[in-house]
Amino acid sequence: MSDRVHDVLVIGSGAAGLTVALNLAGRASVAVLCKDVLRETSTYHAQGGVAAVLDHKDSTDLHMADTIAAGDGLCDPEIVRMVVENARGAVQRLIDYGVDFSRRDRPDGALEYHLTREGGHSERRVLHVSDATGAAIETTLEDQLRAAPGIEVFEHHAVIDLITDRRVGGDGRRCLGAYALDAATGRVRLLRARCVVLATGGASKVYLYTSNPDGTTGDGIAMAWRAGCRIANMEFAQFHPTCLFHPSAKSFLISEAVRGEGGRLVRPDGSRFMDDFDPRGELAPRDTVARAIDFEMKRLGIDCVYLDISHRPKDFVIGHFPTIYRRCLEFGIDITRQPIPVVPAAHYTCGGVVVDARGRTDLDNLYAVGEVSWTGLHGANRMASNSLLECLVFGEAAARHILDALPGAPDPPALPEWDESRVTDSDEEVVIAHNWEELRRFMWDYVGIVRTDKRLARAKRRIDMLNAEIAEYYGNFTVTPDLLELRGLATVADLTIRCAMARKESRGLHYSLDHPRPETLESPRNTVLAPFGG
Ligand code: FAD
Ligand code: SIN
Repeated sequence: MSDRVHDVLVIGSGAAGLTVALNLAGRASVAVLCKDVLRETSTYHAQGGVAAVLDHKDSTDLHMADTIAAGDGLCDPEIVRMVVENARGAVQRLIDYGVDFSRRDRPDGALEYHLTREGGHSERRVLHVSDATGAAIETTLEDQLRAAPGIEVFEHHAVIDLITDRRVGGDGRRCLGAYALDAATGRVRLLRARCVVLATGGASKVYLYTSNPDGTTGDGIAMAWRAGCRIANMEFAQFHPTCLFHPSAKSFLISEAVRGEGGRLVRPDGSRFMDDFDPRGELAPRDTVARAIDFEMKRLGIDCVYLDISHRPKDFVIGHFPTIYRRCLEFGIDITRQPIPVVPAAHYTCGGVVVDARGRTDLDNLYAVGEVSWTGLHGANRMASNSLLECLVFGEAAARHILDALPGAPDPPALPEWDESRVTDSDEEVVIAHNWEELRRFMWDYVGIVRTDKRLARAKRRIDMLNAEIAEYYGNFTVTPDLLELRGLATVADLTIRCAMARKESRGLHYSLDHPRPETLESPRNTVLAPFGG
């Protein structure tokens, strides 16, 4: 089933993919693909907001300095400048599309945007739509997309692999399209394009406990690696300090903005502990807060700590955090009167596909935007609410570059259809379920918040075995969405372990008991892995 050629194939429908697509609308033919429905993304679940300098006491220099301090020596200052300086414009575009950010009354009676605070930010600079910012952004962008000209949407299409010119005898440096599994028919579709954009999000599902939705399995990182792109800094997996701890609450986040508005972290006896770890207390950057919670949980042998906002007036709490209030109440926790049980969980992938300031990867015609990419913005630890911002700013930059490049981009040649002649339907689906569970558990136990050389070596032995088993299985059986995700996770786990083993120091989100201090180098290094041993 060979489809017509699109100018641009956008793989992913979160803030990154939709920003690229909307900036191309009417000027290029675009296909947007996603694994589920358009809005089933991390973007939709974002709570805190988008960082941008709006307050007169704030400045882009301060936003830059905070981002660089959180990034612990590994941010690229030029990229940080580009993102921070473009933040206001990017946010304005969202407002123009119809995102209705929360406002507050000024003493003179005028209305202005309410800015909240989160860890690492020295000023209030986080624009939000109460505590459901991502849902407002995603649904607004989706409405715009559905009304935009020249955009074809392929929901329930899981991309299996990128296609490079190696398929037709080339040197493998050019991307020509992708194969995607259509969940409705079970058939694999060939999609050719002049440009391809990976906007597939992060890989936090590689850990047993995560704040992310189910599809966050690192597919884009894995397929870029297989196609020949470099991958960097995968050791910097960010754990959000505060996910709701309740047996029936699957991955529900308690926004950092709760701490920004005065929430206190306490032990079961009600005593505060963050001041013992950092002078910024509850508003220290995430790596510090997550490690402090992990330390206290292990020291006291407790299942969770508590986040308490009940000292703030009831109306204030419900007004600022209506979603969190309602959700916790469903589990019998009234946050206006009780502390919230919380634990850290995998939240954000700071590493990813190496790109330049326009989102260009190592392959011609292939871009990567959003959480799938490694731009140099976040360094060793992402500062809260800088991620949606990165999606918006890089989404616009990539779209501009694509529009410039398209007139000179040749049509892709005819390509072979997906070949299923040598595979059969699996009779042992249990292999997938078992490996999925085992992988996520050993990643949590051995490659989590605190690492050692021994734990990493153990994890490496296990992932090598799993990868061999998965490769054999993949070669023999028909592809299914679960098998595709497992294959992606296994590749991402391997890349994460290899990056973690290569870093013989503690920095940002990577903390090793065997190497507890940062290396004293003039300029700290990134961990860049090249495919094909290159
Ligand atoms: P996503 O929004 O995750 O979208 C990924 C898309 O790729 C989906 O459409 C998916 O279907 C598609 N896809 C993936 N693999 C395939 C495949 N093989 N084939 C086809 N399609 C595929 N950041 C902030 O800045 N502020 C916040 O307040 C904030 N809060 C957060 C709260 C939560 C609970 C979570 C989980 C994250 C939060 N983040 C926040 C992080 C931020 O939301 C994400 O980093 C960002 O939304 C990522 O956007 P994206 O477009 O790169 O990917
Ligand atoms: C949150 O609301 O705590 C999430 C913010 C982020 O991940 O940037």
